[in-house]
Amino acid sequence: MVMVKTIEALQEAKKLLQGTIGFVPTMGALHQGHLSLIQQARKENDSLIVSIFVNPTQFLEGEDLDAYPRKDEADIKICELIGVDILFMPTVESMYEADELCIGAPAVRGYVLEGEKRPGHFDGMLQVVMKLLNLSGATHAYFGKKDAQQLALITQMVKNYFLDVNIIPCEIVRDEKGLALSSRNVYLRGDEKERALCLSSALKRATKLVISGELDVEKLKKEMLEVLSEADRVEYVAIVSRDFKALKKVEIGNTIILVAAWVGKPRLIDNLWI
Ligand code: PAF
Repeated sequence: MVMVKTIEALQEAKKLLQGTIGFVPTMGALHQGHLSLIQQARKENDSLIVSIFVNPTQFLEGEDLDAYPRKDEADIKICELIGVDILFMPTVESMYEADELCIGAPAVRGYVLEGEKRPGHFDGMLQVVMKLLNLSGATHAYFGKKDAQQLALITQMVKNYFLDVNIIPCEIVRDEKGLALSSRNVYLRGDEKERALCLSSALKRATKLVISGELDVEKLKKEMLEVLSEADRVEYVAIVSRDFKALKKVEIGNTIILVAAWVGKPRLIDNLWI
């Protein structure tokens, strides 16, 4: 594995790559969820690039940028073991200059749910993903379905800007009890890990009801909110179409159920595609 920190070194290292290039962008603190993306990308491509970059432009004022978990040493070992060809770990200075041209999240899809609660987050996320896709020269880029809205917006950016890359959506990875894996789970203390299970339990409750024939969105949301009473604060429960439009009835094959809630220190998100 070659580890590079500058854009020049990345361009040099890329000259040795052949065939399809799989790319997994991350913010580090790698967990089993990242590993499954990296392993899938390894299996499906001739070459593999992973980036670790805690992107400041996607954190809002007062969010956990400084406290965001960083585990560079362990992450480097993991990437080596999985067989990553190039690990790109740029500095903020090498990625950004002052007064940059920016890409904006779309006015509707980019400003509901996560976009409404974290205004500006998706602008910063799209800005860095555009840079990373261009720098990596990826033919296939892998993103988890856990960040469902992020995945939808990246897919839209690739379409709208005619980028020559295939976006590969990857399944959510959960622990043995059902908690969706996230770098922020390390903040969960004491009983919070148990209480955090209410997010996946609420999604399971909705699934059971849908299977039994209940398709009414308001009724499903009410049932989910009961399960979510274990959380400290629920930010939203939403049942929307796969292109993030409001639904009155669940449409099988075209629906995402999403939840965001605070449990202790971390704000957690989870979702289910039905
Ligand atoms: O999902 C993430 O970890 C980040 O949003 C991403 C895609 C690496 C961009 O910084």
